[in-house]
Amino acid sequence: MQLKEALSGLLDENELKKLVKSYDIVGDILIIKIHPDLESKREILAEALHKIYPRVRTIAAVPLYAHTDELYRTRDLEVIWGDENIETTHKESGCFFKVNPEHVFFSPRLSYERMRIAKKVLAGETIINMFSGVGCFSIVIAKMQPQTKMKIYSIDVNPYAYEYMKENIALNKMEGRVIPVLGDVREELKKLELEGVADRVLMPLPEEAHSLLPLAVRTLKSGNEGAGGVIHYYDVSTGRKGDDLFNVPIQRANGIISSAFGNSLRMEIEEKRIVRSVAPRKYHVVLDLRVVKMR
Ligand SMILES: C[S@@+](CC[C@H](N)C(=O)[O-])C[C@H]1O[C@@H](n2cnc3c(N)ncnc32)[C@H](O)[C@@H]1O
Repeated sequence: MQLKEALSGLLDENELKKLVKSYDIVGDILIIKIHPDLESKREILAEALHKIYPRVRTIAAVPLYAHTDELYRTRDLEVIWGDENIETTHKESGCFFKVNPEHVFFSPRLSYERMRIAKKVLAGETIINMFSGVGCFSIVIAKMQPQTKMKIYSIDVNPYAYEYMKENIALNKMEGRVIPVLGDVREELKKLELEGVADRVLMPLPEEAHSLLPLAVRTLKSGNEGAGGVIHYYDVSTGRKGDDLFNVPIQRANGIISSAFGNSLRMEIEEKRIVRSVAPRKYHVVLDLRVVKMR
């Protein structure tokens, strides 16, 4: 049964138009965005959702225009039905992710993107995940390479994300392969002396990745002619469907890299894709950048 169908007769036409039809299921928690004009209908909405998803333990609401914490990328949630405890374990691609969506960023909508990247990784790579959250990208990658020695340095500044990442590494038996690091990536990479070591860098923070692109390049392997690696660079793009949504992100990445490194490296785009729509005419996009250091 569709949500609209479950609500027919309970909401009027005008209210049904304001219904946000997509929602996320994280473990056994359902998270739905609610339009301000439907705030008074939260209970009706929750009952209808529970009818459709009887196994859900908790239904939580996020106001449609909720503020997102700039640093941690979290939003305030309010339980509107069921258990107040919103810690849960989500299963994806054979991995388990324990999260509390109020304290850490987590999106089940990134599952395809995580697997897309995991499939590109080669045996034995050294990887830096600059914005690892609870470790999802890193753990999915490590799971796809069970036989190989690899190190995925996974850095996050949010102490809750770091604690969950440690739990998730243990839950998925990835100790020694996924290395959890708490702190700001700018400082932690320096402290750990991770310049010039990586085959691959992940930058899954579309709003800020551009400002750290030179740092990502410096982390890639260096030393001999032809060294370098791949950067999965995320950006935000605005426009209509059918517009070239990659134009601005490509120009921005090219501009940043050429002003920081001039002719000392070559960069090509191996793949580009729209990751997801985040608001009307606003998208997260990814560019897979192959960087070759010339000297
Ligand atoms: C959009 S979330 C992505 C999390 C994770 N990669 C995922 O997909 O679930 C971005 C993460 O970057 C972290 N972050 C933001 N700025 C950071 C910084 N300067 N250094 C390290 N982590 C940072 C936030 O705490 C947040 O967990």
